[in-house]
Amino acid sequence: MKPQAVQSPFLQSCDIGPSPFRMESFVMVIFGGAGDLSRRKLLPTLLHLFLEGELPQEFYIVGVGRPGLSHQAYRAMMKEAVKEHMGEGPLDAQSWAAFAKRLFYSPGDLQDMGTYRRLTLRLRRLLRRCAEHVIYYLAVPPDALPHVLKGLEHSRACPRGERSKVIVEKPFGTDRASAVRLNRLIHKVFSEAQVYRIDHYLSKEPVQNIMFLRFSNTIFERLWNSRYIEHVQITAAEDTGVGDRGAFYEQTGVVRDMLQSHLLQLLALVAMEPPIGFEPDFIRDEKVKIFRSIRPLDEAYIREFAVRGQYGPGEVGGQRTRGYRQEKGVRGDSTTPTFCALKLQVANWRWAGVPFYLRTGKRLKRKLTEIALVFKQPPLRLFGRACDVLEPNCLLLTIQPRERICLSFGVKYPYGSNQIYPVKMVFGYQEAFNLRPHPPYERLLVDCMKGDLTLFVRQDGVEAMWAVVDPLIQYWEAHPPKGFPNYRAGTWGPRGAERLLARGGRKWLLG
Ligand SMILES: NC(=O)c1ccc[n+]([C@@H]2O[C@H](COP(=O)([O-])OP(=O)(O)OC[C@H]3O[C@@H](n4cnc5c(N)ncnc54)[C@H](OP(=O)(O)O)[C@@H]3O)[C@@H](O)[C@H]2O)c1
Repeated sequence: MKPQAVQSPFLQSCDIGPSPFRMESFVMVIFGGAGDLSRRKLLPTLLHLFLEGELPQEFYIVGVGRPGLSHQAYRAMMKEAVKEHMGEGPLDAQSWAAFAKRLFYSPGDLQDMGTYRRLTLRLRRLLRRCAEHVIYYLAVPPDALPHVLKGLEHSRACPRGERSKVIVEKPFGTDRASAVRLNRLIHKVFSEAQVYRIDHYLSKEPVQNIMFLRFSNTIFERLWNSRYIEHVQITAAEDTGVGDRGAFYEQTGVVRDMLQSHLLQLLALVAMEPPIGFEPDFIRDEKVKIFRSIRPLDEAYIREFAVRGQYGPGEVGGQRTRGYRQEKGVRGDSTTPTFCALKLQVANWRWAGVPFYLRTGKRLKRKLTEIALVFKQPPLRLFGRACDVLEPNCLLLTIQPRERICLSFGVKYPYGSNQIYPVKMVFGYQEAFNLRPHPPYERLLVDCMKGDLTLFVRQDGVEAMWAVVDPLIQYWEAHPPKGFPNYRAGTWGPRGAERLLARGGRKWLLG
């Protein structure tokens, strides 16, 4: 799992110390065990971890779901799923057999208490085989969450109360009020220290690296503030459309789907103060402070500094694609936004006056997640005749598809007179560490098994993130757009997004 260590006399040990977290034997109960997330991501990741020797000796997986499947039928279904989605060459029969014998299925509707009674019996038997704790993975649609939590509360399916954990998928609620309600329900069964609210973006190596880059390098951290940084851009562009999840997306839209979770988490990592240590809560404390310091979005501000869009038909990667309104499960006159761009102000000492521009959307020109820190120009322009290229210094952190860090600066153009030329210094994760692709859920599942909450969102964090975006959702829902669709699939979104930056004399930077 780990990349080859770099041998260097300059590598220093740090004070983080050995991890206090330990992998314990477990039973993982997956509610929605036959659903899309389980088939495409969870089971392939669990098998991958098993094959890598990352799982403890004793572990069991129990899928819970509506289809009335036997253990054998469930194993056969999951075998097909992992073959299709694991992408690691042919599955060897012996390894699969060793994994499959730990897989069980417990059928039933989540609204039926009988489902939890059956599950309790199954869990008792498995826990007797010396599994130390139970991890409940709620891989169900948001409207099924209350049923599961009620079922767990009223049954004894939670036999090692204090030792159990629960993983909750995004979206966590649909606004702040619903997130508060959901947190209350969860806390009837689990204490906050048992709750793992997942955001799979946070498992990406370059995302985790943001803190390492910032807090271990004098050359960056010294400049990481309003004195030197002119503005910050965060782009999370998807080239895909909504696929067959149109009905789900109609209820969600881009703000709930991407902005409230992934983009605000990236913003927090860029903007937060150094934590006082690497304890999960020290880091999560700093992130919450950032969400709370974002200037509230009132109506006038939204009209001025937020742009929404919806894709129409177009062409992506040489393929003709349909518009959002033609997608399965989407209304023909839908006003659901599939794109948004906005300017946020982090009103604290470090960032006062530095705009943070966020942009995300579906069916954009290409898949790209990137953070750009654009530096101020030097105080006196010694250079800069009309023919010179006076690009600002820029630190570009590319999260996907190519994980890399790129620093751009100006050098003297050789042979000519005093002419500046922009160049780039690039660090590529892939080239430096020979990284293999890892399933996105790998790191998060391992962290949960070990009890490390660092990468999971805390209750106050999730509520504070909703508090940032709630006014935007409410305003846009109360004022439906007139001109949707307003961008062609395969472009970088509506013109308004360009104008948002152009007004400040800026432009979006692409990798
Ligand atoms: N799929 C992804 O890639 C992905 C990525 C990120 C987050 N998520 C989140 O993960 C969660 C699950 O998504 P999904 O895509 O896996 O959804 P899904 O394919 O609809 O799967 C949900 C599963 O839950 C079961 N279920 C729903 N209501 C039930 C009930 N009352 N009783 C018993 N079973 C019930 C469904 O059974 P039936 O099939 O019988 O209805 C289905 O097997 C959602 O919150 C989603 O937002 C998914």
